[in-house]
Amino acid sequence: MSARTFFITTAIDYTNAAPHIGHAYEKILADTLVRYQRLRGRPAYFLTGVDQHGQKVAQSAAKEGIPPREFAERNTAGFLALYAKLGISYDGWAATTDSRHIRVVQASLQRLFDCGQIYKAAYEGFYSVRQEQFLTDKERDAEGNFGPEWGEVVPLREENYYFKLREHRQWLIDFISANPSFITPAYRAADALNAARKIEEDLCISRPKSRLDWGIELPFDRDYVNYVWFDALMNYASFGGWLDGEGTAKAEPDLPDFSALWPPDVQVIGKDILVPAHGIYWPIMLHALGFADDQMPRLLVHGWWNVKGEKMSKSTGNVVNPDVLADAHGVPALRYFLMRDMATGADADFSEDRLIARYNADLANGLGNLLNRTLTMTQRYRGGMLSRGGGATEAEEIKRVRTVALEAALAYESAMEAALPHAALEALWSIVAAANSLIETSAPFKLAKVANDATTQHRLDAVLYALAESLRIVGVLIAPVLPESSDALLTQLAFTPAEGDRFASCEWGGLAEGHALGAPTPLFPRIEMPAAQ
Ligand code: MSP
Repeated sequence: MSARTFFITTAIDYTNAAPHIGHAYEKILADTLVRYQRLRGRPAYFLTGVDQHGQKVAQSAAKEGIPPREFAERNTAGFLALYAKLGISYDGWAATTDSRHIRVVQASLQRLFDCGQIYKAAYEGFYSVRQEQFLTDKERDAEGNFGPEWGEVVPLREENYYFKLREHRQWLIDFISANPSFITPAYRAADALNAARKIEEDLCISRPKSRLDWGIELPFDRDYVNYVWFDALMNYASFGGWLDGEGTAKAEPDLPDFSALWPPDVQVIGKDILVPAHGIYWPIMLHALGFADDQMPRLLVHGWWNVKGEKMSKSTGNVVNPDVLADAHGVPALRYFLMRDMATGADADFSEDRLIARYNADLANGLGNLLNRTLTMTQRYRGGMLSRGGGATEAEEIKRVRTVALEAALAYESAMEAALPHAALEALWSIVAAANSLIETSAPFKLAKVANDATTQHRLDAVLYALAESLRIVGVLIAPVLPESSDALLTQLAFTPAEGDRFASCEWGGLAEGHALGAPTPLFPRIEMPAAQ
Protein backbone atom coordinates (compact mmCIF):
# COMPACT_ATOMS: atom_id res chain seq x y z
CA MET A 1 0.00 0.00 0.00
CA SER A 2 1.38 3.40 -0.93
CA ALA A 3 2.08 5.75 1.95
CA ARG A 4 0.50 8.61 0.09
CA THR A 5 -3.15 8.95 -0.75
CA PHE A 6 -3.99 8.67 -4.43
CA PHE A 7 -5.29 12.10 -5.37
CA ILE A 8 -7.51 12.55 -8.38
CA THR A 9 -9.19 15.73 -9.56
CA THR A 10 -11.35 16.66 -12.51
CA ALA A 11 -11.70 19.92 -14.37
CA ILE A 12 -14.27 21.90 -12.48
CA ASP A 13 -17.33 22.66 -14.56
CA TYR A 14 -18.75 26.04 -15.32
CA THR A 15 -21.95 26.79 -13.51
CA ASN A 16 -23.59 28.29 -16.58
CA ALA A 17 -23.47 25.05 -18.50
CA ALA A 18 -26.56 22.90 -18.87
CA PRO A 19 -25.92 19.24 -17.99
CA HIS A 20 -23.56 17.99 -20.68
CA ILE A 21 -22.54 14.46 -21.57
CA GLY A 22 -18.88 15.61 -21.65
CA HIS A 23 -19.07 16.64 -17.99
CA ALA A 24 -20.73 13.35 -17.07
CA TYR A 25 -18.07 11.38 -18.95
CA GLU A 26 -15.23 13.18 -17.24
CA LYS A 27 -16.67 12.65 -13.75
CA ILE A 28 -17.47 8.99 -14.44
CA LEU A 29 -13.96 8.43 -15.81
CA ALA A 30 -12.42 9.97 -12.69
CA ASP A 31 -14.87 8.09 -10.48
CA THR A 32 -13.97 4.80 -12.17
CA LEU A 33 -10.25 5.40 -11.69
CA VAL A 34 -10.66 6.38 -8.05
CA ARG A 35 -12.96 3.43 -7.33
CA TYR A 36 -10.33 1.19 -8.91
CA GLN A 37 -7.82 2.52 -6.37
CA ARG A 38 -10.27 1.77 -3.58
CA LEU A 39 -10.85 -1.71 -5.02
CA ARG A 40 -7.11 -2.22 -4.66
CA GLY A 41 -7.32 -1.16 -1.02
CA ARG A 42 -5.34 2.01 -1.68
CA PRO A 43 -6.41 5.23 0.02
CA ALA A 44 -7.82 7.64 -2.54
CA TYR A 45 -9.14 11.18 -2.48
CA PHE A 46 -11.34 12.52 -5.25
CA LEU A 47 -11.85 16.23 -5.73
CA THR A 48 -14.24 17.86 -8.15
CA GLY A 49 -16.47 20.89 -8.21
CA VAL A 50 -17.69 23.98 -9.96
CA ASP A 51 -16.04 27.06 -11.42
CA GLN A 52 -18.38 29.81 -10.29
CA HIS A 53 -16.67 33.12 -11.05
CA GLY A 54 -15.90 34.96 -14.25
CA GLN A 55 -17.46 36.88 -17.02
CA LYS A 56 -19.50 34.05 -18.53
CA VAL A 57 -21.29 33.43 -15.25
CA ALA A 58 -21.81 37.17 -14.73
CA GLN A 59 -23.23 37.55 -18.23
CA SER A 60 -25.54 34.55 -17.93
CA ALA A 61 -26.81 35.83 -14.59
CA ALA A 62 -27.38 39.30 -16.02
CA LYS A 63 -29.40 37.78 -18.85
CA GLU A 64 -31.68 36.22 -16.27
CA GLY A 65 -31.74 39.42 -14.21
CA ILE A 66 -30.43 37.76 -11.05
CA PRO A 67 -27.22 38.33 -9.06
CA PRO A 68 -24.29 36.08 -10.14
CA ARG A 69 -24.09 34.48 -6.72
CA GLU A 70 -27.70 33.37 -6.87
CA PHE A 71 -27.19 32.12 -10.42
CA ALA A 72 -24.03 30.21 -9.46
CA GLU A 73 -25.66 28.67 -6.39
CA ARG A 74 -28.69 27.53 -8.33
CA ASN A 75 -26.58 25.87 -11.02
CA THR A 76 -24.25 24.36 -8.46
CA ALA A 77 -27.26 22.62 -6.92
CA GLY A 78 -27.98 21.17 -10.37
CA PHE A 79 -24.44 19.77 -10.69
CA LEU A 80 -24.56 18.33 -7.16
CA ALA A 81 -27.83 16.54 -7.95
CA LEU A 82 -26.48 15.20 -11.26
CA TYR A 83 -23.28 13.86 -9.73
CA ALA A 84 -25.22 12.24 -6.89
CA LYS A 85 -27.47 10.55 -9.44
CA LEU A 86 -24.50 9.32 -11.47
CA GLY A 87 -22.84 7.87 -8.35
CA ILE A 88 -19.79 10.15 -8.48
CA SER A 89 -18.00 9.30 -5.22
CA TYR A 90 -16.06 12.50 -4.68
CA ASP A 91 -14.53 13.32 -1.31
CA GLY A 92 -13.96 17.04 -1.77
CA TRP A 93 -16.26 19.53 -3.44
CA ALA A 94 -14.50 22.55 -4.88
CA ALA A 95 -16.85 25.49 -5.22
CA THR A 96 -14.77 28.53 -6.05
CA THR A 97 -16.94 30.95 -4.08
CA ASP A 98 -15.98 29.03 -0.93
CA SER A 99 -14.17 31.26 1.57
CA ARG A 100 -11.31 28.74 1.97
CA HIS A 101 -10.61 28.93 -1.72
CA ILE A 102 -10.77 32.74 -1.75
CA ARG A 103 -8.21 32.91 1.07
CA VAL A 104 -5.82 30.57 -0.76
CA VAL A 105 -6.14 32.38 -4.09
CA GLN A 106 -5.50 35.72 -2.40
CA ALA A 107 -2.55 34.36 -0.44
CA SER A 108 -1.04 32.93 -3.64
CA LEU A 109 -1.50 36.21 -5.49
CA GLN A 110 0.09 38.11 -2.62
CA ARG A 111 3.06 35.71 -2.59
CA LEU A 112 3.60 36.15 -6.30
CA PHE A 113 3.20 39.91 -6.02
CA ASP A 114 5.65 40.13 -3.11
CA CYS A 115 8.33 38.22 -4.98
CA GLY A 116 7.98 40.34 -8.11
CA GLN A 117 6.17 37.77 -10.23
CA ILE A 118 3.20 40.08 -10.74
CA TYR A 119 3.44 43.61 -12.11
CA LYS A 120 1.06 46.32 -13.37
CA ALA A 121 1.05 47.58 -16.97
CA ALA A 122 -1.20 49.22 -19.52
CA TYR A 123 -2.39 47.29 -22.51
CA GLU A 124 -4.31 48.26 -25.58
CA GLY A 125 -5.75 45.69 -27.94
CA PHE A 126 -8.65 43.60 -29.12
CA TYR A 127 -10.62 41.73 -26.52
CA SER A 128 -12.79 38.63 -26.95
CA VAL A 129 -15.80 38.95 -24.69
CA ARG A 130 -16.66 35.26 -25.03
CA GLN A 131 -13.18 33.93 -24.26
CA GLU A 132 -12.44 36.68 -21.73
CA GLN A 133 -9.04 37.38 -23.21
CA PHE A 134 -7.15 39.94 -25.24
CA LEU A 135 -6.38 38.67 -28.73
CA THR A 136 -3.16 39.00 -30.65
CA ASP A 137 -2.37 38.71 -34.34
CA LYS A 138 -1.82 35.00 -33.80
CA GLU A 139 -5.54 34.64 -33.31
CA ARG A 140 -6.40 36.20 -36.66
CA ASP A 141 -7.48 33.85 -39.45
CA ALA A 142 -6.10 33.78 -43.01
CA GLU A 143 -8.23 36.80 -43.92
CA GLY A 144 -6.90 38.75 -40.97
CA ASN A 145 -10.16 38.53 -39.00
CA PHE A 146 -10.91 37.11 -35.59
CA GLY A 147 -13.02 34.02 -36.29
CA PRO A 148 -16.47 33.31 -34.88
CA GLU A 149 -14.97 31.20 -32.07
CA TRP A 150 -13.97 34.45 -30.37
CA GLY A 151 -17.52 35.84 -30.34
CA GLU A 152 -17.77 39.62 -29.98
CA VAL A 153 -14.33 41.28 -30.28
CA VAL A 154 -13.95 44.88 -29.04
CA PRO A 155 -10.97 47.32 -28.90
CA LEU A 156 -9.94 47.99 -25.30
CA ARG A 157 -7.22 49.91 -23.37
CA GLU A 158 -6.70 48.84 -19.83
CA GLU A 159 -4.27 48.87 -16.93
CA ASN A 160 -3.96 45.42 -15.51
CA TYR A 161 -1.78 43.09 -13.50
CA TYR A 162 0.44 40.59 -15.29
CA PHE A 163 1.99 37.34 -14.18
CA LYS A 164 5.51 36.74 -15.54
CA LEU A 165 4.75 33.72 -17.63
CA ARG A 166 7.57 34.36 -20.12
CA GLU A 167 10.21 34.18 -17.42
CA HIS A 168 9.38 30.48 -16.94
CA ARG A 169 9.19 29.46 -20.57
CA GLN A 170 12.49 27.59 -20.61
CA TRP A 171 11.74 25.88 -17.34
CA LEU A 172 8.44 24.59 -18.75
CA ILE A 173 10.01 23.39 -21.99
CA ASP A 174 12.65 21.50 -20.02
CA PHE A 175 10.09 20.18 -17.58
CA ILE A 176 7.73 18.81 -20.23
CA SER A 177 10.65 17.34 -22.20
CA ALA A 178 12.14 15.62 -19.16
CA ASN A 179 8.86 14.34 -17.71
CA PRO A 180 6.93 12.18 -20.15
CA SER A 181 4.54 11.18 -17.37
CA PHE A 182 3.35 14.80 -16.96
CA ILE A 183 0.81 14.44 -19.76
CA THR A 184 -1.07 11.29 -20.80
CA PRO A 185 -1.59 10.29 -23.59
CA ALA A 186 1.95 11.03 -24.70
CA TYR A 187 0.94 12.55 -28.05
CA ARG A 188 -0.81 15.38 -26.20
CA ALA A 189 2.48 16.38 -24.58
CA ALA A 190 3.62 17.56 -28.01
CA ASP A 191 0.75 20.08 -28.04
CA ALA A 192 1.82 21.48 -24.70
CA LEU A 193 5.47 21.55 -25.68
CA ASN A 194 4.70 23.47 -28.86
CA ALA A 195 2.61 25.93 -26.92
CA ALA A 196 5.37 26.33 -24.33
CA ARG A 197 7.86 27.16 -27.07
CA LYS A 198 5.50 29.84 -28.31
CA ILE A 199 5.04 31.65 -25.00
CA GLU A 200 5.67 35.28 -25.87
CA GLU A 201 3.37 37.21 -23.57
CA ASP A 202 2.94 37.41 -19.85
CA LEU A 203 -0.45 36.44 -18.49
CA CYS A 204 -2.95 39.12 -17.58
CA ILE A 205 -4.37 37.93 -14.26
CA SER A 206 -6.71 40.80 -13.40
CA ARG A 207 -9.94 42.36 -14.58
CA PRO A 208 -10.87 45.91 -13.52
CA LYS A 209 -13.95 45.86 -11.33
CA SER A 210 -15.47 48.50 -13.55
CA ARG A 211 -15.77 45.78 -16.21
CA LEU A 212 -16.27 42.69 -14.08
CA ASP A 213 -16.80 42.43 -10.37
CA TRP A 214 -17.81 38.77 -10.13
CA GLY A 215 -14.47 37.37 -9.01
CA ILE A 216 -11.90 37.24 -6.25
CA GLU A 217 -10.43 40.64 -5.34
CA LEU A 218 -6.70 41.11 -5.78
CA PRO A 219 -5.35 41.46 -2.23
CA PHE A 220 -2.95 44.23 -3.30
CA ASP A 221 -5.45 46.25 -5.34
CA ARG A 222 -9.13 46.09 -4.45
CA ASP A 223 -10.14 47.76 -7.72
CA TYR A 224 -9.46 44.52 -9.54
CA VAL A 225 -10.69 40.94 -9.48
CA ASN A 226 -8.66 37.89 -10.41
CA TYR A 227 -8.80 36.38 -13.90
CA VAL A 228 -11.08 33.36 -13.72
CA TRP A 229 -8.58 30.76 -14.94
CA PHE A 230 -6.04 31.65 -12.25
CA ASP A 231 -8.83 31.40 -9.68
CA ALA A 232 -10.20 28.14 -11.08
CA LEU A 233 -6.85 26.37 -11.44
CA MET A 234 -5.99 27.13 -7.83
CA ASN A 235 -8.94 24.99 -6.72
CA TYR A 236 -6.80 21.87 -6.93
CA ALA A 237 -4.43 23.25 -4.34
CA SER A 238 -6.87 25.12 -2.13
CA PHE A 239 -9.25 22.17 -1.76
CA GLY A 240 -6.28 19.84 -1.52
CA GLY A 241 -5.43 21.64 1.73
CA TRP A 242 -2.57 23.81 0.50
CA LEU A 243 -1.31 26.62 2.75
CA ASP A 244 -3.08 24.99 5.64
CA GLY A 245 -0.98 25.28 8.76
CA GLU A 246 0.89 28.30 7.44
CA GLY A 247 -1.72 30.60 8.89
CA THR A 248 -3.08 31.57 5.54
CA ALA A 249 -5.89 29.10 5.17
CA LYS A 250 -7.34 28.39 8.56
CA ALA A 251 -7.31 24.72 9.49
CA GLU A 252 -10.76 23.29 8.99
CA PRO A 253 -11.90 19.90 10.19
CA ASP A 254 -12.84 18.64 6.72
CA LEU A 255 -9.67 19.90 5.06
CA PRO A 256 -7.62 17.05 3.57
CA ASP A 257 -4.03 16.47 4.61
CA PHE A 258 -2.08 18.25 1.89
CA SER A 259 1.20 16.46 2.57
CA ALA A 260 -0.51 13.07 2.16
CA LEU A 261 -2.23 14.16 -1.03
CA TRP A 262 0.00 16.35 -3.11
CA PRO A 263 0.82 16.11 -5.99
CA PRO A 264 -2.33 14.93 -7.80
CA ASP A 265 -1.69 11.53 -9.38
CA VAL A 266 -4.27 12.25 -12.02
CA GLN A 267 -5.87 15.49 -13.11
CA VAL A 268 -8.61 14.60 -15.56
CA ILE A 269 -9.19 17.27 -18.18
CA GLY A 270 -10.62 17.53 -21.67
CA LYS A 271 -8.29 18.19 -24.60
CA ASP A 272 -9.66 21.74 -24.98
CA ILE A 273 -8.27 22.89 -21.66
CA LEU A 274 -4.77 21.43 -21.90
CA VAL A 275 -3.39 24.41 -23.81
CA PRO A 276 -2.96 26.94 -22.41
CA ALA A 277 -4.70 26.46 -19.05
CA HIS A 278 -3.48 23.15 -17.60
CA GLY A 279 -0.40 22.57 -19.73
CA ILE A 280 1.04 26.10 -19.53
CA TYR A 281 -0.49 28.37 -16.88
CA TRP A 282 -0.96 25.77 -14.20
CA PRO A 283 2.57 24.27 -14.03
CA ILE A 284 4.09 27.75 -14.31
CA MET A 285 1.88 29.03 -11.51
CA LEU A 286 2.98 26.15 -9.29
CA HIS A 287 6.63 26.58 -10.26
CA ALA A 288 6.53 30.31 -9.51
CA LEU A 289 4.89 29.55 -6.17
CA GLY A 290 7.87 27.36 -5.27
CA PHE A 291 6.61 23.87 -6.09
CA ALA A 292 9.47 21.54 -7.05
CA ASP A 293 9.38 19.56 -10.29
CA ASP A 294 8.43 16.39 -8.46
CA GLN A 295 5.47 18.25 -6.97
CA MET A 296 3.82 18.85 -10.33
CA PRO A 297 0.50 17.12 -11.00
CA ARG A 298 -0.02 14.59 -13.77
CA LEU A 299 -2.56 15.35 -16.43
CA LEU A 300 -4.83 12.80 -18.04
CA VAL A 301 -6.28 14.34 -21.17
CA HIS A 302 -9.46 12.85 -22.56
CA GLY A 303 -11.04 13.41 -25.93
CA TRP A 304 -14.39 14.84 -26.86
CA TRP A 305 -17.75 13.29 -27.41
CA ASN A 306 -19.19 14.48 -30.67
CA VAL A 307 -22.55 13.85 -32.28
CA LYS A 308 -22.53 12.58 -35.85
CA GLY A 309 -18.95 13.76 -36.11
CA GLU A 310 -19.85 17.30 -35.05
CA LYS A 311 -19.00 19.28 -31.95
CA MET A 312 -21.87 19.62 -29.48
CA SER A 313 -22.95 23.17 -29.00
CA LYS A 314 -25.81 25.14 -27.60
CA SER A 315 -26.24 26.96 -30.88
CA THR A 316 -26.59 23.73 -32.88
CA GLY A 317 -28.89 22.40 -30.16
CA ASN A 318 -27.21 18.96 -30.24
CA VAL A 319 -25.94 18.89 -26.66
CA VAL A 320 -26.62 15.48 -25.13
CA ASN A 321 -28.05 15.69 -21.63
CA PRO A 322 -26.78 12.96 -19.26
CA ASP A 323 -29.60 13.58 -16.78
CA VAL A 324 -32.22 12.71 -19.38
CA LEU A 325 -30.29 9.60 -20.48
CA ALA A 326 -29.83 8.37 -16.91
CA ASP A 327 -33.58 8.74 -16.31
CA ALA A 328 -34.48 7.05 -19.58
CA HIS A 329 -32.08 4.09 -19.52
CA GLY A 330 -30.69 3.92 -16.01
CA VAL A 331 -27.31 4.92 -14.59
CA PRO A 332 -25.57 1.55 -15.31
CA ALA A 333 -26.40 1.82 -19.02
CA LEU A 334 -24.95 5.33 -19.15
CA ARG A 335 -21.84 4.62 -17.07
CA TYR A 336 -21.13 1.42 -18.96
CA PHE A 337 -21.53 3.01 -22.37
CA LEU A 338 -19.37 6.05 -21.58
CA MET A 339 -16.58 3.91 -20.19
CA ARG A 340 -16.81 1.21 -22.85
CA ASP A 341 -17.20 3.26 -25.99
CA MET A 342 -14.45 5.84 -25.59
CA ALA A 343 -10.76 4.98 -25.56
CA THR A 344 -9.30 7.45 -23.06
CA GLY A 345 -7.66 10.25 -25.00
CA ALA A 346 -9.43 9.72 -28.32
CA ASP A 347 -12.66 11.34 -29.49
CA ALA A 348 -15.84 9.29 -29.83
CA ASP A 349 -19.24 9.72 -31.32
CA PHE A 350 -22.25 9.69 -29.04
CA SER A 351 -25.35 7.87 -30.18
CA GLU A 352 -28.29 6.88 -28.02
CA ASP A 353 -29.01 3.90 -30.29
CA ARG A 354 -25.49 2.69 -29.75
CA LEU A 355 -25.86 3.11 -25.99
CA ILE A 356 -28.98 0.96 -26.05
CA ALA A 357 -27.39 -1.61 -28.37
CA ARG A 358 -24.30 -1.90 -26.15
CA TYR A 359 -26.40 -2.22 -23.04
CA ASN A 360 -28.59 -4.92 -24.54
CA ALA A 361 -25.68 -6.86 -26.00
CA ASP A 362 -23.17 -6.63 -23.17
CA LEU A 363 -25.23 -6.14 -20.02
CA ALA A 364 -28.70 -7.57 -20.68
CA ASN A 365 -27.79 -10.48 -23.02
CA GLY A 366 -24.17 -10.89 -21.93
CA LEU A 367 -23.61 -10.52 -18.22
CA GLY A 368 -27.25 -10.37 -17.09
CA ASN A 369 -28.17 -13.52 -18.94
CA LEU A 370 -25.11 -15.37 -17.69
CA LEU A 371 -26.03 -14.51 -14.13
CA ASN A 372 -29.63 -15.50 -14.56
CA ARG A 373 -28.90 -18.75 -16.30
CA THR A 374 -26.18 -19.74 -13.83
CA LEU A 375 -28.33 -19.08 -10.77
CA THR A 376 -31.43 -20.64 -12.24
CA MET A 377 -29.58 -23.79 -13.29
CA THR A 378 -27.76 -24.09 -9.98
CA GLN A 379 -31.04 -23.70 -8.10
CA ARG A 380 -32.82 -26.15 -10.33
CA TYR A 381 -30.17 -28.87 -10.56
CA ARG A 382 -28.32 -28.45 -7.29
CA GLY A 383 -30.67 -26.63 -4.92
CA GLY A 384 -28.36 -23.60 -5.22
CA MET A 385 -25.31 -25.46 -3.88
CA LEU A 386 -21.97 -25.42 -5.71
CA SER A 387 -19.53 -28.25 -5.90
CA ARG A 388 -16.19 -28.11 -7.69
CA GLY A 389 -16.94 -31.42 -9.42
CA GLY A 390 -14.76 -32.45 -12.30
CA GLY A 391 -12.96 -35.43 -10.88
CA ALA A 392 -9.20 -35.90 -10.76
CA THR A 393 -8.21 -33.91 -13.82
CA GLU A 394 -9.79 -30.69 -14.94
CA ALA A 395 -11.55 -30.92 -18.29
CA GLU A 396 -10.28 -28.83 -21.20
CA GLU A 397 -13.54 -26.88 -21.35
CA ILE A 398 -13.09 -25.69 -17.75
CA LYS A 399 -9.39 -25.02 -18.19
CA ARG A 400 -10.22 -22.77 -21.13
CA VAL A 401 -12.55 -20.58 -19.10
CA ARG A 402 -10.13 -20.51 -16.23
CA THR A 403 -7.28 -19.40 -18.49
CA VAL A 404 -9.42 -16.70 -20.06
CA ALA A 405 -10.35 -15.44 -16.58
CA LEU A 406 -6.74 -15.38 -15.45
CA GLU A 407 -5.52 -13.52 -18.51
CA ALA A 408 -8.47 -11.15 -18.44
CA ALA A 409 -7.82 -10.20 -14.82
CA LEU A 410 -4.22 -9.32 -15.67
CA ALA A 411 -5.26 -7.38 -18.77
CA TYR A 412 -7.89 -5.59 -16.67
CA GLU A 413 -5.26 -4.63 -14.12
CA SER A 414 -2.82 -3.17 -16.61
CA ALA A 415 -5.62 -1.33 -18.44
CA MET A 416 -6.91 0.23 -15.23
CA GLU A 417 -3.40 1.18 -14.13
CA ALA A 418 -3.02 2.91 -17.50
CA ALA A 419 -6.39 4.72 -17.09
CA LEU A 420 -7.99 2.81 -19.95
CA PRO A 421 -11.34 1.55 -18.61
CA HIS A 422 -12.59 0.65 -22.09
CA ALA A 423 -9.79 -1.92 -22.39
CA ALA A 424 -10.43 -3.17 -18.85
CA LEU A 425 -14.09 -3.76 -19.73
CA GLU A 426 -13.15 -5.44 -22.96
CA ALA A 427 -10.98 -7.84 -20.97
CA LEU A 428 -13.79 -8.59 -18.49
CA TRP A 429 -16.20 -9.32 -21.30
CA SER A 430 -13.88 -11.97 -22.64
CA ILE A 431 -14.73 -13.84 -19.42
CA VAL A 432 -18.45 -13.28 -20.00
CA ALA A 433 -18.09 -14.59 -23.56
CA ALA A 434 -16.09 -17.63 -22.47
CA ALA A 435 -18.63 -18.48 -19.75
CA ASN A 436 -21.62 -18.05 -22.05
CA SER A 437 -19.99 -20.23 -24.65
CA LEU A 438 -19.33 -22.88 -21.99
CA ILE A 439 -23.10 -22.98 -21.45
CA GLU A 440 -23.64 -23.41 -25.18
CA THR A 441 -21.04 -26.14 -25.63
CA SER A 442 -21.68 -28.13 -22.45
CA ALA A 443 -25.49 -27.74 -22.51
CA PRO A 444 -26.04 -28.20 -18.74
CA PHE A 445 -29.75 -28.86 -19.21
CA LYS A 446 -28.80 -31.98 -21.17
CA LEU A 447 -26.20 -33.02 -18.60
CA ALA A 448 -28.83 -32.68 -15.86
CA LYS A 449 -30.99 -35.26 -17.62
CA VAL A 450 -28.28 -37.94 -17.36
CA ALA A 451 -28.94 -38.10 -13.63
CA ASN A 452 -27.58 -41.58 -12.97
CA ASP A 453 -24.12 -41.10 -14.49
CA ALA A 454 -21.54 -39.90 -11.95
CA THR A 455 -19.08 -38.62 -14.56
CA THR A 456 -21.77 -36.52 -16.24
CA GLN A 457 -22.91 -35.17 -12.90
CA HIS A 458 -19.34 -34.24 -11.98
CA ARG A 459 -19.08 -32.46 -15.30
CA LEU A 460 -22.29 -30.56 -14.55
CA ASP A 461 -20.91 -29.56 -11.15
CA ALA A 462 -17.67 -28.37 -12.73
CA VAL A 463 -19.52 -26.35 -15.35
CA LEU A 464 -21.79 -24.65 -12.82
CA TYR A 465 -18.82 -23.91 -10.61
CA ALA A 466 -16.86 -22.40 -13.50
CA LEU A 467 -19.82 -20.23 -14.42
CA ALA A 468 -20.22 -18.99 -10.85
CA GLU A 469 -16.49 -18.30 -10.57
CA SER A 470 -16.51 -16.35 -13.84
CA LEU A 471 -19.41 -14.28 -12.53
CA ARG A 472 -17.69 -13.69 -9.22
CA ILE A 473 -14.54 -12.39 -10.87
CA VAL A 474 -16.46 -10.13 -13.26
CA GLY A 475 -18.72 -9.04 -10.37
CA VAL A 476 -15.78 -7.95 -8.24
CA LEU A 477 -13.85 -6.24 -11.03
CA ILE A 478 -16.80 -4.44 -12.54
CA ALA A 479 -17.25 -2.41 -9.34
CA PRO A 480 -15.31 0.72 -10.42
CA VAL A 481 -17.55 1.17 -13.46
CA LEU A 482 -20.83 -0.25 -12.13
CA PRO A 483 -20.67 -0.09 -8.34
CA GLU A 484 -24.33 -0.81 -7.66
CA SER A 485 -24.61 -3.59 -10.21
CA SER A 486 -21.47 -5.16 -8.74
CA ASP A 487 -23.05 -5.17 -5.26
CA ALA A 488 -26.29 -6.60 -6.61
CA LEU A 489 -24.46 -9.29 -8.59
CA LEU A 490 -22.27 -10.33 -5.68
CA THR A 491 -25.30 -10.39 -3.38
CA GLN A 492 -26.98 -12.83 -5.73
CA LEU A 493 -23.84 -14.97 -5.68
CA ALA A 494 -23.86 -14.61 -1.86
CA PHE A 495 -20.20 -13.62 -2.06
CA THR A 496 -18.64 -10.89 0.07
CA PRO A 497 -15.12 -9.89 -0.99
CA ALA A 498 -12.62 -9.51 1.83
CA GLU A 499 -11.50 -6.01 2.81
CA GLY A 500 -8.17 -4.78 1.46
CA ASP A 501 -7.06 -5.49 -2.08
CA ARG A 502 -10.13 -7.00 -3.71
CA PHE A 503 -8.21 -7.78 -6.84
CA ALA A 504 -6.49 -10.46 -4.78
CA SER A 505 -9.85 -12.18 -4.31
CA CYS A 506 -10.09 -12.67 -8.07
CA GLU A 507 -7.95 -15.74 -8.23
CA TRP A 508 -9.85 -18.72 -9.54
CA GLY A 509 -11.43 -20.90 -6.88
CA GLY A 510 -12.65 -18.33 -4.38
CA LEU A 511 -16.06 -19.94 -3.94
CA ALA A 512 -15.88 -22.70 -1.36
CA GLU A 513 -17.04 -26.25 -1.87
CA GLY A 514 -20.71 -26.31 -0.87
CA HIS A 515 -21.15 -22.54 -1.32
CA ALA A 516 -24.85 -21.67 -1.63
CA LEU A 517 -25.76 -19.16 -4.32
CA GLY A 518 -28.66 -16.78 -3.85
CA ALA A 519 -31.85 -16.56 -5.86
CA PRO A 520 -31.78 -14.96 -9.31
CA THR A 521 -33.24 -11.49 -9.79
CA PRO A 522 -32.95 -9.91 -13.24
CA LEU A 523 -30.10 -7.40 -13.08
CA PHE A 524 -30.08 -5.70 -16.46
CA PRO A 525 -33.57 -5.75 -17.98
CA ARG A 526 -33.50 -5.29 -21.74
CA ILE A 527 -34.13 -1.82 -23.11
CA GLU A 528 -36.57 -1.87 -25.98
CA MET A 529 -35.22 0.03 -28.97
CA PRO A 530 -37.46 2.91 -29.92
CA ALA A 531 -39.37 1.89 -33.07
CA ALA A 532 -37.61 3.06 -36.24
CA GLN A 533 -39.18 6.26 -37.58
N1 MSP B 1 -14.38 25.61 -15.88
C1 MSP B 1 -13.41 25.12 -16.80
C2 MSP B 1 -12.45 24.16 -16.13
C3 MSP B 1 -11.71 24.76 -14.98
S1 MSP B 1 -10.61 23.59 -14.31
C4 MSP B 1 -9.63 24.50 -13.31
C5 MSP B 1 -14.11 24.39 -17.94
N2 MSP B 1 -15.38 24.04 -17.73
S2 MSP B 1 -16.33 23.35 -18.81
O1 MSP B 1 -17.61 23.19 -18.19
O2 MSP B 1 -16.31 24.08 -20.05
O3 MSP B 1 -15.71 21.96 -19.11
C6 MSP B 1 -15.52 21.03 -18.05
C7 MSP B 1 -14.88 19.77 -18.59
O4 MSP B 1 -15.81 19.14 -19.46
C8 MSP B 1 -13.61 20.05 -19.40
O5 MSP B 1 -12.58 19.15 -19.06
C9 MSP B 1 -14.04 19.82 -20.82
O6 MSP B 1 -13.01 19.33 -21.63
C10 MSP B 1 -15.12 18.75 -20.62
N3 MSP B 1 -16.00 18.71 -21.77
C11 MSP B 1 -16.82 19.68 -22.23
N4 MSP B 1 -17.37 19.24 -23.40
C12 MSP B 1 -16.91 18.01 -23.72
C13 MSP B 1 -17.24 17.03 -24.67
N5 MSP B 1 -18.06 17.26 -25.68
N6 MSP B 1 -16.72 15.79 -24.51
C14 MSP B 1 -15.94 15.47 -23.43
N7 MSP B 1 -15.62 16.35 -22.51
C15 MSP B 1 -15.84 17.70 -22.79
O7 MSP B 1 -13.47 24.13 -18.94
